[in-house]
Amino acid sequence: MALREILKFGEDVLRKKCREVTAFDEKLAQLLDDMAETLKEADGVGLAAPQVGILRRAIVIDVHDEKGVIELINPVIIKTEGVQVGREGCLSAPGEWCEVERPQTVTVKAFDRTGKEFELKGSDLLARAICHEVDHLDGILFIDRVKQDIAKRS
Ligand code: CO
Repeated sequence: MALREILKFGEDVLRKKCREVTAFDEKLAQLLDDMAETLKEADGVGLAAPQVGILRRAIVIDVHDEKGVIELINPVIIKTEGVQVGREGCLSAPGEWCEVERPQTVTVKAFDRTGKEFELKGSDLLARAICHEVDHLDGILFIDRVKQDIAKRS
């Protein structure tokens, strides 16, 4: 395992749309291991492959509960319920926090590192993290989601 450099806002790669993972191989496992280590070192909640310069649809999330590190490959949000508004940041924008509206609960369909498909339902911080990281795969950053009226109140 190795730490990877986390790219910051302003890097073109963070605005690109990522391609699907097609090879569930040793290289993918290495990427996921490195991303988990990098996430832990940065004390973050989630990290998407483009943040370490890899334009593939892979994310890792750790909301520090019993689930541990969650790996989502080619994730697709298939259902959202409710609304939450809360403080959100990004490892690519240290020290920057905004109030962002997200679904309260999301259901995501994804593949694990072996290529097995699964569904995951998450609420609160996990739902927020899933939405934030899936956005990264499409070149969308949390600052794009800030609502002017909400930002003014914070
Ligand atoms: Co982010």
